[in-house]
Amino acid sequence: MAVKTLKVHAPAKINLSLRVVSVRADGYHELRTIFQSIALHDTLTIRAERGPFRLECDDPACPRDSTNLVWSAVEQVWAAAGRRGEVCDLAIRLTKRIPIQAGLGGGSSDGAAAIRAVGALLRVSPACQQAVAMSLGADAPYFLEGGTALGLGRGDRLYPLIDHPSSWVALVLPSFGVSTKDAFGWWDESGVGEPEGLEPGNDLQAPVAARHPEIDKIAKALGRAGASYAAMSGSGSAVFGLFQHRVDAERAAVKLAGRGRRALVTRTLDRAAYQRLAGVRGHRIHLPIAPRSVDHA
Ligand code: C5P
Repeated sequence: MAVKTLKVHAPAKINLSLRVVSVRADGYHELRTIFQSIALHDTLTIRAERGPFRLECDDPACPRDSTNLVWSAVEQVWAAAGRRGEVCDLAIRLTKRIPIQAGLGGGSSDGAAAIRAVGALLRVSPACQQAVAMSLGADAPYFLEGGTALGLGRGDRLYPLIDHPSSWVALVLPSFGVSTKDAFGWWDESGVGEPEGLEPGNDLQAPVAARHPEIDKIAKALGRAGASYAAMSGSGSAVFGLFQHRVDAERAAVKLAGRGRRALVTRTLDRAAYQRLAGVRGHRIHLPIAPRSVDHA
């Protein structure tokens, strides 16, 4: 029996370190960041459905139009495959588990998952998939690889690193979100110069915590709860703590949840585990999508 759906998972990331080096001529910031995959993930289910492309999502806060990176990923992969006109005969259901505006890369990972899945369906080469990811945003290229990686430039010049030792992660999610653009704007206003060393740290944490003091309080509380390292992830608002033992991560999460905050426990994923989880399932299955070069505009 022909299976008519394709499933792909989109894992989140944390930044084990995020140093802001300078402001670039294009307005972006030059970064030295260490990305680390975690098991928390969204899921994309792709199915054949006659008519214009449709994006569904179980989270009302998630856009279902062209402002969603999944949408632009699909449009670009469609064009890269040589198909003309509007995307059609495909529908994607996005099951969101990664909080929005948390600094966990959810939107970028969803976009990269769409590139992998629709790219496999339409037989778009890995090099083309990479080019689409570069155009989606600074974090998207990382999600084509996963694991532990150093990101330079906008965070999109990637160097795979030896996998970080497997850790349990207590992830604390404040009641507010932070826009990436705002966080970098606050860093600009803070007038901080180049980072002095290469030791781990998140240079966006101080400017974000100046507006949201809860961020520093959570990081300190995670340290007191025994985290070997605790910091804001990316541009926030999520704060993570690393633990060797699951029970300690769980105890910290229970302690820090409440008063409008959520907390959950997940774990780091090495590159091989990331690629297993993020792999496209069933890409040999042929979906009855429109034949090449039919113009549906
Ligand atoms: O690339 P992305 O769309 O994810 O970035 C969102 C915003 O974050 C950018 O418009 C920019 O203002 C800021 N940003 C930055 N430097 C980076 C990455 C993001 O200034 N390296």
